[in-house]
Parts: sequence; structure tokens; C-alpha cells
Amino acid sequence: MIAVAGAVAGAAYVVAALLFILSLAGLSKHETSRRGVTFGIVGMIIALVATVWLTAAGAWGTPSGTTGLILLVAAVVVGGAIGLWRARVVEMTGMPELIALLHSFVGLAAVLVGWNGALYDAGLDGALADIHHAEVFIGVFIGGVTFTGSIVAFLKLSARISSRPLMLPGKNALNVGALVVFVALTVWYVLTPELWLLVLVTVLALALGWHLVASIGGGDMPVVVSMLNSYSGWAAAAAGFLLNNDLLIVTGALVGSSGAYLSYIMCKAMNRSFLSVIAGGFGIEAPKGGDEEHGEHREIDAAGAADLLAGAGSVVITPGYGMAVAQAQHGVADLVQKLRERGVDVRFGIHPVAGRLPGHMNVLLAEAKVPYDIVLEMDEINDDLAHTDVVLVIGANDTVNPAAAEDPTSPIAGMPVLRVWEASNVIVFKRSMASGYAGVANPLFFRENTQMLFGDAKDKVDEILMQLSRIAV
Ligand code: TAP
Repeated sequence: MIAVAGAVAGAAYVVAALLFILSLAGLSKHETSRRGVTFGIVGMIIALVATVWLTAAGAWGTPSGTTGLILLVAAVVVGGAIGLWRARVVEMTGMPELIALLHSFVGLAAVLVGWNGALYDAGLDGALADIHHAEVFIGVFIGGVTFTGSIVAFLKLSARISSRPLMLPGKNALNVGALVVFVALTVWYVLTPELWLLVLVTVLALALGWHLVASIGGGDMPVVVSMLNSYSGWAAAAAGFLLNNDLLIVTGALVGSSGAYLSYIMCKAMNRSFLSVIAGGFGIEAPKGGDEEHGEHREIDAAGAADLLAGAGSVVITPGYGMAVAQAQHGVADLVQKLRERGVDVRFGIHPVAGRLPGHMNVLLAEAKVPYDIVLEMDEINDDLAHTDVVLVIGANDTVNPAAAEDPTSPIAGMPVLRVWEASNVIVFKRSMASGYAGVANPLFFRENTQMLFGDAKDKVDEILMQLSRIAV
């Protein structure tokens, strides 16, 4: 019975792993993303059913096995119910912190699986026992770093703690020192697997995870989230080795490598050093400057904005986090349609880290049924901005900050931005002169060709739509 169940579950795991790979491939394009999600859901259902079945086959008749089965089903029901509820109520803007929190669970699970592997006598000896001890130690370490790192990311993203980087004296030496101690402890543990060493590495990993992410500033948080995604994958793979579960190993490696690649792409997009960010801001000094006054700003109202738009030949919209907060995407889609009906060439310029999660703006615009072909990436549109009549900056701030390109002392210096200030006219939709996520003042607001349209982005877009209907074509 167990042998048959094992073979069937093994085959089911291969199918699930293939579906996860197809899911990742599907998610890489707008057009196939729904299919990608479906593949992922089906793969996960197959994996869960196979695991429950395998456990049930092994549990048959033994009291401890039955308890394990009951615990497994209870955990799936409780976890599934909480997951469904959270996924239903979470706001799109709250996704990054939810994801960070979910990564912390993976890290905690890897720590618990590691501890379980250490306390439970697997009856191994010789080289196999050494490998088992190394797996336990490495799994606990990666899990611990992921656990506290993700919690700090959650606290920073949800603004429960400051997003400023923690600058402990000798922080780079602390990180490197912790890694060296970890390697030495691993060798020690493999030679003499004593429990106090495991306690020590658990404390070390928890402290290192906390310090790594605390040392990274708000501007680099997008990379941190995808980096923790990668760590959580490796933590799951480590747990897979301990549990002898091939699917967990494959899935963990998929998440680990795709998360690492995403972090690399984001680092390139933000002109950050990949190694520096994964090493907890290694080599990054505390930034200075960025807060000086820039003079007077000019304001415009909805009627003025409508006039400007009606007379424009080309318009580029650069949305940001504020469009998501205001849920202005549907109004923006209507505005685009109205302007296109008037013969205005309208396109979108999307910064890779606009909003609070990768692809945030693309998801909102797709939801509002904006045609894909007018939604361009930053690199595709940047050179056209100088020949654009009007740029509408809707709830974006850091991603259009000229200081990143022009002020080497700015905390976001070197981050590529949408060069909206090169357009003939810029209208900035926001509620106040407050700074954006990185907490850096924005000289764009004081440029001669910039006008501020204060208020909630959705209300202002709706007002412009009303005003526009009064202007003859
Ligand atoms: P931000 O720099 O965060 O600025 C958003 C602006 O929207 C704020 O200045 C805010 O100004 C305005 N706003 C908020 N609610 C509004 C509303 N209801 N109506 C109108 N305006 C509103 O946005 P961004 O340009 O999209 O940049 C994203 C930032 O988040 C970057 O620093 C990025 O590194 C970081 N980040 C990104 C991610 C990813 S992966 N995308 C993840 C984490 C962090 P007022 O308060 O004055 O209205």
C-alpha cells in the first residue's frame, strides 16, 4: 500500500513541479498571466492531495501516524481558511507587506523542520549522518535569516517602523563575521552534533536576518522583498532535503532562483549593486542631503488641466503609488479614452518600481482595461518625453524625481527615473507637497514647467473628465 502510494505521489509531484514551471513561464507575460495562475493553482492542488494521500497511506493503523494525519488536515484547513480570508480582504497596496509576512512563515517552518530533524533520531550513521547534520544546520540558518528578515521587511513596508537604514558601526564587518561564524559552527556541528550549537546558530541567524534587512533603506525595499522571496525558496528547499520531499526541493529551488533573478533585474533597473543589496546594504554609506528647499511651486485646477489636455497633441501618463491609493485607474482609463477620441496621442510610462510591488501599475491598468500597446516601460518612453506636450504624473513621486539623475548627494542618486521634466508641461497629481516612499524632497515640483494639481487623484481625474466634456472637440 505504502509503496504504491509513494510511486503515485512521486508521479503527482513531477506533474505538480511541471505545472509550477509552466506557471512561472505564464506569469512572465500579461497575455498569459491568467493561464500561469491557473497552472499554479492546479499544481498546488495536486501537490496537496498527493501529500495528504501519502501521509494517509503511511498513517494507516499506527497511532502516531493517525495523529500526524489529523494534524496535517487540521493545518491545511486552518491555514487555507486564514489564507483565503487574508487574500480576499487585502488591498492591492498592502500586498508587499502581506508577501513579506508569508515569507516569514516559510522561514519559521524551515527552522521548525530543522529542529525537528535534529531532535528526531533518523537512525543514520557515517557520511549519511554528517550530511543530515549539515542539512539541519543550514536549513535552520537560512530559515532563521528569512524569518526575522521578513518580519523587519513587513514592519518597514507597513510603516510600523522607520524605513531608514540602520547604520550600526562596523555593520559590514558584523554581517561578514556572522557568515564566518556560521561556517565554523556548521563544521563543528557536523563533527559533534550538540544541541547548544543549534541554539547558537538559531540565535545567530535570527539576529543576522534582522540586521541585514534593518540595514537596507526604504528605496531598496522592492529588491529586499524579492530577495526574501528567494531566501524563502532556499529555506523551503532545505526543508525538502530534511523531509526527503522532492517536490519541496524542486519548488524551493524554483522560488529561490526566480526570486534571485528578479532581485537582479530590479537591481539593474534601479542601478543598485546586487551583491551590495543581498549583503544588507554592504558598502552603502548613510546618504546625505536631499531635503533642501527648492523655491515656489505653481498650482493648476481641474479646468486648467482639462484645457491643457484638450490642446495637447501628445500626452504621457506616469502613474505611481498614489493612483493605487486613490483607486483612480478606472477614471484614468476613461480619460485616456476621451483624449484618444479627440485625436490626442496618449501613452503610459511605467517605472519598474512604481507603486509598492513589481508590476503594480500594470495590474491596475489591466484591471481598468487600458490597451497593453500604449503601456510602455520606462526605457521605451524616456527618450520621447522631451517631445511630449503634457505629462500627467498621477500619484508618482520618487520615480519621477530629477534629484536621482542630477544630485549625486541624493539618497536615490543613480536610480533611473522617468525624465518627465523634459516635457513641455508637467501636471503633478497629489494631495500635498509631502515626499514619496524614499522620504526625499522632489525638485520636480518647483520646476518652471510643472504645475501641482492638489487633491485625491481619483476626484481630480473625475473633475477633469467633467471639464473636458464642456470643451468642444
Ligand atoms: P511614491 O514615491 O511612494 O509617492 C507616491 C505619492 O502619491 C506620494 O508622494 C503621495 O503624495 C501621493 N499620493 C498618495 N495618496 C494619494 C492620493 N489618494 N491621491 C493623490 N496622490 C496620492 O510613489 P512612486 O513614484 O510610485 O514610487 C514608489 C516608491 O516605492 C519608490 O521609492 C520605490 O522604491 C518604493 N517601493 C516600490 C516597491 C515596488 S516593487 N514597486 C516596493 C516597495 C517600495 P501626497 O501624500 O502628498 O498625496
